[in-house]
Amino acid sequence: MDHSRAPILEALAAYHASGQTPFTPPGHKQGRGVDPRVAEVMGLDVFRSDVLATAGLDDRRASGGVVQEAEELMADAVDADQAFFSTCGSSLSVKTAIMATAGPGEKLIIGRDAHKSVGSGLVLTGVIPVWVDPTWDHERQLAHPPSVEAFAAALKAHPDAKGVLVVSPTPYGTCADLTELTRVCHEHGRPLLVDEAWGAHLPFHPDLPTWAMDAGADMCVTSVHKMGSALEQSSVFHLRGDRIDPALLKARSDLLNTTSSSVLIYAALDGWRRQMVEHGRATYDRTLALAHHVRAAADDLDGFHVYGRADYDGMIADMDPLQVVVDVSATGASGYAMADWLREHHQINMHLSDHRRISAQLSHADDEKSAEALLAALRDLADRAGELPAAQVRVPGDLRLDQVMAPRDAFFAETEPVPADRAAGRISAEMLTPYPPGIPAALPGERLTGDVLAYLTTGLRSGMVIPDAWDSSLETIRVVKE
Ligand SMILES: Cc1ncc(COP(=O)(O)O)c(C=O)c1O
Repeated sequence: MDHSRAPILEALAAYHASGQTPFTPPGHKQGRGVDPRVAEVMGLDVFRSDVLATAGLDDRRASGGVVQEAEELMADAVDADQAFFSTCGSSLSVKTAIMATAGPGEKLIIGRDAHKSVGSGLVLTGVIPVWVDPTWDHERQLAHPPSVEAFAAALKAHPDAKGVLVVSPTPYGTCADLTELTRVCHEHGRPLLVDEAWGAHLPFHPDLPTWAMDAGADMCVTSVHKMGSALEQSSVFHLRGDRIDPALLKARSDLLNTTSSSVLIYAALDGWRRQMVEHGRATYDRTLALAHHVRAAADDLDGFHVYGRADYDGMIADMDPLQVVVDVSATGASGYAMADWLREHHQINMHLSDHRRISAQLSHADDEKSAEALLAALRDLADRAGELPAAQVRVPGDLRLDQVMAPRDAFFAETEPVPADRAAGRISAEMLTPYPPGIPAALPGERLTGDVLAYLTTGLRSGMVIPDAWDSSLETIRVVKE
C-alpha cells in the first residue's frame, strides 16, 4: 500500500481548496462564529479543520471512502487485518470490545488490573467477569499483568467463558506474554482481546515490547493519543483472524459511538500512521536512546530508583522503557507530594504518582531539552525530598475483593450511603478508582473489606484522588441495600 498517502488529510486539504460553504454543523462554520477571545487562546486553525465527516470531508454518501481508506492503511501499517477508528477514546473501545465478545449473563475472563472502562462495560452489558489475579509484586507493591498460567487455569475452569481480556502494557509499562497467552486462548478456541491503550507506538520499533497483532491476538484497542501523535480521545480497534466478526463489532460499536465523529481526530490518526511508517524506526532509535539516558541519570539521584527489567525478573514478559517509573520510597516522601511539588516549582507534570512512586512518560516528541528539564527538576526534587510530607497510606498485602454479585445487578440495585468505617462487609454499588492510573480498587458487586477501605481512606489523606466515587471525600460509600 502507498503509505506516503494520507487520505483524510488529503480530503481535508481538498475541502479547504474547493471553497465549500457549510449549512451544516458545526455551527461555528470553520471558525467564523468563534468568539475572538476563544480564537486568541486556541487559534482559528483548529476550527477551520473541524468539519463534518459526511457532507463535509466526504460527500453525503461517504462515497469517497476516505475514512475507510485511512483505516485500511492503518491496518496494513500495524499488521492487522482490519482497523477501525474511534473518536471516543479507548474508554469506549474497551466497552465495545467486551460487547463484541460476550452478551448479558455470559462470562469473560479478565485480568483484575483492568481499567475502569472495563468496570463500566460490565455494568452496561451485564457480562459476568471471571477475574484473574494480577501478578502482585510484593516488594514494590505493584500489580503486573496476570501470568499465562493464571489465565490458562481460568480458561480450564470456565470453558463457557467467551474470551480473555488483558491490559498490556499496564500504565506502569509492564507487559504480559501476549504470544504465549494467544496460544493458550486459541488452544481453548477463545479470542484474546488486548487493552493496549498504552501501546500505540509498539508496532514501530523491534526493541519495544511485542505488539498484540504481532503476537497473534484477535483484537487490540489502542489510545493513539496516549503514546502517539494523535489528538486526545483517538482510539483504534485492530482485528486479526476470524474469531471476532468485524460486522458484529461494527454493529455493537454503533450502539455506543457518537454520530458526530471528529475529523480533527481522524486526520491526526491518519498523519500519525504515515509518520510512523516513514520515520518510526529512526524516531524510536532516538527516543529509546534518550530514555536510556534519562533512566540512568534519574536512577543515580539520591533516594531515587528507576525500575528496570531486573527488578521485575520472572514477573513480567517485557516492559516499555518509555515509562520512567521512579521509586522514591527511600526518601520517605510520598509520590503524590513530589508530583505536586514538581508542577508548582518546575512546571513539570508527571504521568502517574502514587504513595511511593512518580512516573514520567517519555514519547517520540521528547528531546534533549525536555529530558534535561525533567532531570534538572528531579535533581532539585532529590535535594528537597526531606522537606516533603511522607505518605501515610496503609497498603494491604491483599487488595483483592470477592465479586459476590454481578456488576450490573449491584450498580442498578437499591443502594444506600454508609459511613466508610461501617462499609466493610457490605457490597459496593459503585466504582472506587484511584486516578491515575484508573484501576478500580472496588467494583460494583464486590464485597468491601476493611483493608481496602483503609487503603483508600488513608490514600485520600495522603493525596490520592478518587474522582468516580459518589462521595469523593469517601466519608460515605454507596453500597447495596441488604
Ligand atoms: C489501560 C487503559 N485502558 C483504557 C483506557 C482508556 O483510554 P482513553 O483515555 O483513551 O479513553 C486507559 C486510560 O487511562 C487505560 O489506562
